[in-house]
Amino acid sequence: MRRIITVASGKGGVGKTTFAINFALALSRIAPTVLVDLDTGTSSIRNTLDVSIQRDLYHFFRRNTPLDQCLTTLDAHLDPEGLFENFALVAAPRHSIEEIATMGPDARRRLMEAINRLPATFTVLDLRAGLDATVIDFLPLSNSGILVFTPRHPAATLAAGDIVRSLLFRKLRIVFSETSPLFRGTEGHLQHRLVNDLLDQVEDVYQEGLPNLDAFLEDLHASLGDTEWVTAIEDVVHSFGVYFVLNMFNGVEESWENAIRPFGTHLKNTISDSLTMTNLGWIVEDPKVHDANCRRRPILLEASGEGSRLGDRTRDPVLMELDRLEADVLGLPSPRDLTAPPRSAPRDEIALLGRDDPLSGQLEVLRRMYRSRGTAQVRENFAYITRRAHHLLRDLPQGTFGQPRLVPPEEIQEHVFGRKPGYR
Ligand SMILES: Nc1ncnc2c1ncn2[C@@H]1O[C@H](COP(=O)(O)OP(=O)(O)OP(=O)(O)O)[C@@H](O)[C@H]1O
Ligand SMILES: [Mg+2]
Repeated sequence: MRRIITVASGKGGVGKTTFAINFALALSRIAPTVLVDLDTGTSSIRNTLDVSIQRDLYHFFRRNTPLDQCLTTLDAHLDPEGLFENFALVAAPRHSIEEIATMGPDARRRLMEAINRLPATFTVLDLRAGLDATVIDFLPLSNSGILVFTPRHPAATLAAGDIVRSLLFRKLRIVFSETSPLFRGTEGHLQHRLVNDLLDQVEDVYQEGLPNLDAFLEDLHASLGDTEWVTAIEDVVHSFGVYFVLNMFNGVEESWENAIRPFGTHLKNTISDSLTMTNLGWIVEDPKVHDANCRRRPILLEASGEGSRLGDRTRDPVLMELDRLEADVLGLPSPRDLTAPPRSAPRDEIALLGRDDPLSGQLEVLRRMYRSRGTAQVRENFAYITRRAHHLLRDLPQGTFGQPRLVPPEEIQEHVFGRKPGYR
């Protein structure tokens, strides 16, 4: 099971890098994990992690060093007991280099192929803020990856919604481009024009005619009937899953009012009623998190006060937290061995929401999580999110959450239609 999980936010400064580092560290306790710094202009991960870096993306791009030889592992002073020996990092260049910071299409394709070949079970991508191609190209096709936003910055919540929108529109533009196998025969050219005119109208938020993709799909139905490919496009939109983490959590009401409700409403109004939204959990605001970053020793690498010896799982603080969560929160028996065959997580923990409305049930989920997790500290927050993410990665069909491989733009059509008979 290889999975690539993106961490994105739309707006900057909400805690993507903090989350990505600690999430990758926690995942590495389950299976080999590589964290890739795709914020290639600011090299923020290397500034948050006190490791000596021999090779980074500079060597990959300029010296043609294979990506798997650009891996950095933790120094002994950060991980004296080797608890995180399954963690590795691909750092961005030490200083910004224009061509690497802005990555043109060829550079992106080359890096995508290399990431797809990395020797890791989990690959976590820390993306930069913004919505340009260096962000969108790396996002999964059928879900949002992990979006981070915070009740502290309401504007960032809307930017997170815009990521979902940009991602879906970019995908639909490619699916509906002139070379699409959908547009065949004499009618093909006209159909292509019709669909793209409608997409222009939905994308243009200043026009009121077609507010969201649901209206677009209705119009398509009205114009073209119930054809096989209208159904295919409905599948693209309706099966799209949105996953998010709330950083700097400060209570149920404020998180609901400032973050989750505006986010879900934005998705409903500008995209569709039928997206599934999944809350993976939250991280409380804690000065220890920031101090740890400043000391370049991420919070999960801080000694937790409990003794831990190499190889002694019962005393490994991170694994103990993970194990306890399995038992307490997810209602699962504590795993004797993490390599044991997968069990199914309770249904309501996997698909927390109905499919009718992205917002339905969200407040209840938040309250329920708060009842069981309200007093949890930062480290437990990370453990909880990691455990939930791991269950989703393991139990859901591939492509529902995260992605088995990055798909370059020229392969998207084949990816969407390749499996459907008649479109080859
Ligand atoms: N839970 C938290 N509690 C306290 N401080 C936090 C928390 N999460 C992040 N921070 C602090 O907030 C600031 C922004 O975090 P971070 O750099 O991870 O965000 P980002 O989204 O990656 O930013 P950018 O868009 O610039 O890449 C940092 O100073 C970090 O130490
Ligand atoms: Mg960052």
